[in-house]
Amino acid sequence: MLKGKKILVGVTAGIAAYKVANLVRLFIKKGAEIKVVMTPDAQTFVSPHTLSVLSKNKVEIDFFSQEKEWNNHVHIAMWADAFVIAPCTANTIAKMASGVCDNLLLTTYLSARCKVYVAPAMDVDMYHHPTSQSNLKKIVSFGNVIIPPETGELASGLHGEGRMAEPENIVLFLEKGFETHGSFKGKKVLITAGPTYEEIDPVRFIGNRSTGKMGIALANAFAHEGADVTLVLGPTHLSPNNTVTCIRVESSNEMYEHCTNLFKSTDVAIMSAAVADYKAAEYSHQKIKKKEANLKLNLTKNIDILAELGKQKKKQCLVGFALETENVIEYAKQKIKAKNLDFIVANSLQDSGAGFAMDTNKISIIDNKGKVFDYGLKSKEDVAKDILNFTLSYLKK
Ligand code: CTP
Repeated sequence: MLKGKKILVGVTAGIAAYKVANLVRLFIKKGAEIKVVMTPDAQTFVSPHTLSVLSKNKVEIDFFSQEKEWNNHVHIAMWADAFVIAPCTANTIAKMASGVCDNLLLTTYLSARCKVYVAPAMDVDMYHHPTSQSNLKKIVSFGNVIIPPETGELASGLHGEGRMAEPENIVLFLEKGFETHGSFKGKKVLITAGPTYEEIDPVRFIGNRSTGKMGIALANAFAHEGADVTLVLGPTHLSPNNTVTCIRVESSNEMYEHCTNLFKSTDVAIMSAAVADYKAAEYSHQKIKKKEANLKLNLTKNIDILAELGKQKKKQCLVGFALETENVIEYAKQKIKAKNLDFIVANSLQDSGAGFAMDTNKISIIDNKGKVFDYGLKSKEDVAKDILNFTLSYLKK
C-alpha cells in the first residue's frame, strides 16, 4: 500500500518525538518516500540529523535554509500524498484549529491538499481538557484524521490516555487510509448545498435556515475518495476541505447557471441545496418603505435546477434530496419520477436529530424502482459515507 507513496512526516515538540526515528524507518521499509518537517522546539527531542539520515532527505525546520534560500512550504505540501504529524502537541493542535501559522510545519499544514493524519501526544489531563477536545473536534471537521492516542504510562509518571500511537499502528492507519482512498478516482462529481438568497430589495431577501452542512460533508467524502468535486454553495459561513473546488453563489439563478454549465462533463450530480422555490416577481431597486398595515409581495417560481438537469440527463447519475414534513416516502417517490432521478435521499423534519443546522441526520434512500433503504440517526459525515457507498454500488450495477 505504501510503496512509492510520498509521505511528509511532521514532528512537534513532544517527548514521543524520539519514536519518530522508528516511524520513518518503518515507512522507508514499506517503500515510501519520506520528507520530514519539524518545529524548531522538536529538535530538543530528536535530532534532525538522525531523521535526515533515515529519511534520506534534508529535514526542513526554518523558513530560510542555511544557504539563505526560502523553504517553500507550498512545494513541500504539494509534494506529499499524505502528511502525518506525529507527535502532535496540544499547542500545535490548537494552532491548527485556529489557523495560526508561526512555523514552517504549520504553514505547510495550511497549504496541504493531501490527507492530514494527526497523532496527538500529551499528558492525560491535557488530552482530556475541554479546549484540547474541542480543538480536536474542530480539526476533524476540517477533514483531518486523528490517529487516537494510546493508554499507558506517560512521561509525567501519570497513567492514562495521551501516549502517541505506536509507530507500527501509525503505519497501519496510513495503509488503511490509502486502501480506502480512490473509489471515485477519475469521476467528476457536482454537488449543490446551502440555501439560496433571492433578493427583494437592496436590504432584504427570501432565504431559509439551511447551513449546507450535509452537502459540504458529501463534497468532502467524495473528494476523500479521489473524485474531482465541484461544490456550488449557497450563502453560508461554512467551507468544504481545500480538496473541493467551491463556487460560492447567492441566488438560485446563479446556482442554475453553474450547474447547467458543469453538468455535461459530470458523472454524478447530487443536489442537496435548499433552493428557494420562489423569488420576488420584481426586484425593487430602492428599499421598500413601511406604509400600509399589510404588504403584498408578488412571487414568481424559480427554475427547478434538479428538474432541468433531469431533462438534460444522458449518462449522468442524478441524485436529489427531499426534505418533507409528512408522507416522506410517497412525496420522495413522486420527485424521482418528476425530476428523472436515479435515486433520492429523503429526510423528515419530524425526526428528531434530522434537518437544517443539525450535526446529525436520519435518511432513507429510495431508488428509481421504488425500493426504500432506511438508515439510522448518524452524524452528517457518516450519512455522507452511506450516500457515497450507495452511489458506488448503484454505479456498479
Ligand atoms: N431543487 C432544485 N431547484 C429548485 C428546487 C429544488 O434543484 N428550484 C432540488 C433540491 O436541491 C432537492 C430537490 O430539488 O434536491 C427537492 O427539493 P424540495 O424542496 O424537497 O422539493 P421541491 O421539488 O421544491 O417541492 P416541494 O417544495 O413542493 O416539496
